[in-house]
Amino acid sequence: MHTSNIAVVGLQWGDEGKGKVVDAVAGVSRYVVRYCGGANAGHSVQIGQEKYALHLIPCGIFREGVVNIIANGVAFDPQVALEELAALADRGLRLGPDRLVISSAAQVVMPWHKLQDSLGEQALGSAKLGTTVRGIGPCYADKAMRSVAIRAGDLIDADALRDRIRRIAEIKSATFAALYGAEPIDAEAIADEYIEYGRQLGPMIANAGAILRNACRNGERIMFEGGQGSMLDIDHGTYPFVTSSTVTACGVPSGAGVPPSAVGTVVGVIKAYSSRVGTGPFPTEQDNETGEWLRRRGQEYGTTTGRPRRCGWLDAFAVRYAADLSGVGELALTLLDVLSGLDELKICTGYELTGRAMQDYDATVLAEAEPVYESVPGWAGDISQCLSYADLPAAAKAYVTRVEELVGRPVSIISVGPARRQTIVRRSKIEGLS
Ligand code: GDP
Ligand code: IMO
Ligand code: MG
Repeated sequence: MHTSNIAVVGLQWGDEGKGKVVDAVAGVSRYVVRYCGGANAGHSVQIGQEKYALHLIPCGIFREGVVNIIANGVAFDPQVALEELAALADRGLRLGPDRLVISSAAQVVMPWHKLQDSLGEQALGSAKLGTTVRGIGPCYADKAMRSVAIRAGDLIDADALRDRIRRIAEIKSATFAALYGAEPIDAEAIADEYIEYGRQLGPMIANAGAILRNACRNGERIMFEGGQGSMLDIDHGTYPFVTSSTVTACGVPSGAGVPPSAVGTVVGVIKAYSSRVGTGPFPTEQDNETGEWLRRRGQEYGTTTGRPRRCGWLDAFAVRYAADLSGVGELALTLLDVLSGLDELKICTGYELTGRAMQDYDATVLAEAEPVYESVPGWAGDISQCLSYADLPAAAKAYVTRVEELVGRPVSIISVGPARRQTIVRRSKIEGLS
């Protein structure tokens, strides 16, 4: 089946600038779909001087005529969704059921998930995972458990929902009391709150999978918006320091309810260096002046938690692995402007383990991996006003070319600033984009 669909996925540890790329490409799409993760994501879009940070709502909302879908693979937090909707309405962007659809099969994040995330992290002490404490892990765990799960469709039937909440709250109260000495959960208050969420969100809750399969049949273009980054994937990332969903393009079919053939062209987003927020292996981390310089220049503070992000050199070995996992066709290279002003840049081309070169990427042994670097010349001067590839300094072009060689894919989108116009499109196979 030929499809013009696009999947935009992060190829590092999240925060690659997916929001900006999705917004840039959304103009040529009919649907924009979140298929993984939940409010642990923080996707920034800048339009003119206006900055938006979206956690659950897809980044296609700024393009008229685009239908945004929160699909079944998402850990859906109705409280966050309503807060986001209200904040957007305050800024003049009102979204009704014609612009936002929530899958009835999406798992609902409940207060006990957030509580468990936070109590669990506290109990782990220095061994904590460094989660966003948005209840993501416990919500997906309950999805797999089934008996204690609530889905978005369950929010609509008030009486059945109250019964279900009472039953689950009893189990959770007993568990948390035994494990953490926690106070009992107030089931009636939670039921009142979630029945109200169901009343407000009800008109948007629908059979999203059917909408998307119909779109595939009718040849309407879908863009799948990845959350997190491939190195945080539950199976292929730096386990256990990962998130709890399949964030690569492999998560699109099951997370959105479409066949694998509907994934289309996969655009892998990479920032020109690396960042990671939270705990876990990060071979190219620069826990030194260079890392601080990158953090300051790139304003690397979490969009969701405000935590300072750990920063380091671009890890082309990891990016190539991530690109292979998702079948990436082209790359979007973001935050290139941040690197301006360094005499020399480093790119990690591989790892050594106990003195021997690692042949195939192995995310299970990263803690012991020693990165191998190649040095390339940097460039001076501000490139944030370069609106075409030809305008970039020779050394910046050489950096782009080297990334293409090392990752084995063309860089078709280059971002030199957070605003829409600071986007250079070249040689993209995406119809309508260049
Ligand atoms: P996401 O989670 O992948 O959507 O990325 P985030 O929004 O969490 O983090 C990316 C940050 O970089 C945001 O503050 C963006 O506004 C900003 N950004 C995106 N592209 C560029 C760029 O090319 N240059 C600069 N300087 N900032 C960018
Ligand atoms: P976007 O979509 C960066 C990280 C957390 C933590 C780990 C597990 O904005 O790129 P979780 O709360 O998911 O159980 O936390 O995953 N993490 C992210 N880091 N960007 C994200 O999303 C992230 N989502 C989760 O910091 O290390
Ligand atoms: Mg982010």
